[in-house]
Amino acid sequence: MTSRTILTIVLAAGEGTRMRATLPKVLHAVAGRSLLAHVLGAAPQGAGTSLAVVVGPNHQAVADEALRVRSDAAIFTQSERLGTAHAVLAAKAAIAQGFDDLLIAFGDTPLISPETFERLRAPLRAGAALAVLGFRAADPTGYGRLVVDNNRLAAIREQADASDDERKITLCNAGVMAFDGRLALQVLERIGNANRKGEYYLTDAVTIVRELGRDAVVIETGEDEVRGINTKAQLAEAEQVMQSRLRQAALDAGVTMIAPETVFLAPDTAFGKDVTVEPYVVFGPGVSVGDGAVIHAFSHIVQATIGKNTSVGPYARLRPGTSLGDGARIGNFVETKAAILEAGVKVNHLTYVGDAHVGANANIGAGTITCNYDGFNKHKTQIGEGAFIGSNSSLVAPVKIGKGAYIGSGSVITKDVAEDALALERSQQATNEGWAKRYRDMKAAAKGKSG
Ligand code: UD1
Ligand code: CA
Repeated sequence: MTSRTILTIVLAAGEGTRMRATLPKVLHAVAGRSLLAHVLGAAPQGAGTSLAVVVGPNHQAVADEALRVRSDAAIFTQSERLGTAHAVLAAKAAIAQGFDDLLIAFGDTPLISPETFERLRAPLRAGAALAVLGFRAADPTGYGRLVVDNNRLAAIREQADASDDERKITLCNAGVMAFDGRLALQVLERIGNANRKGEYYLTDAVTIVRELGRDAVVIETGEDEVRGINTKAQLAEAEQVMQSRLRQAALDAGVTMIAPETVFLAPDTAFGKDVTVEPYVVFGPGVSVGDGAVIHAFSHIVQATIGKNTSVGPYARLRPGTSLGDGARIGNFVETKAAILEAGVKVNHLTYVGDAHVGANANIGAGTITCNYDGFNKHKTQIGEGAFIGSNSSLVAPVKIGKGAYIGSGSVITKDVAEDALALERSQQATNEGWAKRYRDMKAAAKGKSG
């Protein structure tokens, strides 16, 4: 939409002490994706965009996550935590390269949308030097207050430095700002730390921009979009907001959900047409569900491709690397992992299929286990098209069951089975005629004597 170049700086150097966790704050997840990944995913990308992420010392894991999501990110370390303006200046080398726009976002506001970032850039094109994202807070405590005069932003007052009157202001700083890139560095370098906390506040940029005779403006958004996450309770609230957005999007796309409030989705969950999702289903990242599929209650699905007209669950667990062909049926208490099940395969009850390839229309009986692990390595099980695996069979991998073969119930299969063969591995049945009756009679007689 614009040919202006832009640098986005995402601040993620905070310790997040209030999370009371070992994990750095921005690595906590909402809808199965880190807070940082949400922000980086919403930040401008593509031609003319650059991205910098500011991390704390000893936060290699944060840097790794940033690069996993955006391999184009430049990582900067803020070695001492001296405030948000100080954090931005950790990326000075990037700013100094010269961009039309400079966008600053916080790593702990995961619900922000790409549209909002774009909305914030618009006033720069109209000549403003600074645009600040604002929102009306239900409870403004703790946020920077936006002091507005004549429709223009005059200052941002942090909670600790605000007067009683200023504290009554409910229009708050969301933390996201867009600067005229040519002015940004000189503004940032003029910010001092003469305030109650002795920190370099990014929010002081507003008064400096005004002193330079340039305009600062507010762009408003809803509170839900800019919730900053400082505590586990706020993390849970953000999850709720995100889930209701995702549920709404799924409903809008035509997914039938009987109790959407019980279904958990990931931002990348993809649904075909005419899909039904019953109550209490959890979708982790990387799931796609084909047309006409029915996901029955209490199923848990992560990184799986589910074909058309399939039936999954109730109580199914599809783990990463599962692929179900069209018309496949996975029943209750079935677990799959790194398993390709071709079209029409049936695995209806109490089964583990891991590191396996199952040919079309094979039928896997109740209680079948692919024994894929020998305590050191994982091994593969291959089951041919149309094979029939009798109930309670153990398939000790590596092993190959030929097309159309039969495995007798209760077998422990350690050797490959040829196409169309029957493999049976169990001892001969012994039947003792009349034994049960004789036994009962003997016991009853003994009891009669002693009683
Ligand atoms: C900040 C804003 C406040 C705004 C609020 C919105 C300032 C001075 N205050 O306050 O006006 O209403 O966000 O949520 O900007 N960070 C660093 N290094 C630092 C300090 C912070 O990287 O030295 C990062 C944090 O990791 C976080 C972000 O900057 O991602 C904001 O820091 P935080 O301490 O949470 O600021 P607030 O007190 O919430
Ligand atoms: Ca915060």
